[in-house]
Amino acid sequence: MFGGVTEARRILGIDTSCDDTGVGIVELAPDGQVRVLANRVWSQTVHAQYGGVMPELASREHVERIDDILQEALKEAGLALTDLHAVAATSGPGLVGALLVGLMYGKGLAQALGVPFYSAHHLEGHIFAAASEALLQTPYLALVVSGGHTHLFDVPAPGRYDLVGATRDDAAGEAFDKIARLAGLGYPGGPAISEAAQRGDPGSVPFKEPLQGQQGFDFSFSGLKTAALLAHRGGATPENLAASFQQAAVKFLVKTTVRAARALGRRTVVVSGGVAANAALREAFQQTGLNVVFPGKGLNTDNGAMIALAGAAALQAEKAPSPLTVGAEAYAPLANT
Ligand code: KG4
Ligand code: ZN
Repeated sequence: MFGGVTEARRILGIDTSCDDTGVGIVELAPDGQVRVLANRVWSQTVHAQYGGVMPELASREHVERIDDILQEALKEAGLALTDLHAVAATSGPGLVGALLVGLMYGKGLAQALGVPFYSAHHLEGHIFAAASEALLQTPYLALVVSGGHTHLFDVPAPGRYDLVGATRDDAAGEAFDKIARLAGLGYPGGPAISEAAQRGDPGSVPFKEPLQGQQGFDFSFSGLKTAALLAHRGGATPENLAASFQQAAVKFLVKTTVRAARALGRRTVVVSGGVAANAALREAFQQTGLNVVFPGKGLNTDNGAMIALAGAAALQAEKAPSPLTVGAEAYAPLANT
């Protein structure tokens, strides 16, 4: 049934697409159950002084850290390199110089160990992060909400991604980050807004729902950003701004996703990416009556375990390994439509 495989296989995953050096290890059982054995992330702090990610500095830090993070992951899993059956690494999308570090490292490691190598798509990794027990069963709808992406995919069959909606301007996480900076709440903005929101009144700043009346399932955050700027100038406190913005963003994300699920007849929704860590978003999704699946702790934001999970799915589907000539791609759409 599973290509005659009777032993559990352990897959190493590497993600260096942006400013986090992530190495994770998962175990794939013959029946398709998966288990995260290790998930180590080094979040680069060097960029904070610039207020944004400096690509060249990110690449250098990945080079400096990746050996240590790999050793930490092996230690956490209680494994040696020779216990690995496959290596997966992100090939895109992301910062090319940063991606290259993990991609080349992964290829070299796979070659040295004589195990298959799989290149992985960063967004597919985010989606697979929700598969921390059994690999995801299609069909489902996948909302990826991160610092760089706000994409809604319909996944009717394994490996098939139909884009049904995307942001027209900023990504959801980017809006959290920008509004947090405006309100002086620090970086990264998501956790800062979420924390400040607990002390604010969500009804104090009126935010108009974006793209009201649209037939499709797109997202937009520029209107909320402008409204936040005006409210800030008008004297709204950081806590009230955080609570009101968070409520408006959550409502908009949930409403649009639920409409899409109904239109497409999907019962299961995977919500992943950094913003999926948001407690208010999780709570709102849980009240929709849909079967909503979130990544486990530490798997929402960029990490290597999600890439190992994507590698596990490729192994399980008996996909041919990627050629070692595969390159890094800054822009790599996941959808096939
Ligand atoms: O997935 P991720 O680590 O990186 C990208 O691929 O972009 O996502 C990072 C984003 C940041 O914008 C951060 O502010 C946001 O995820 N984020 C959150 C929360 N934790 C992280 N946004 C809202 N609420 C949170 N609790
Ligand atoms: Zn990401």
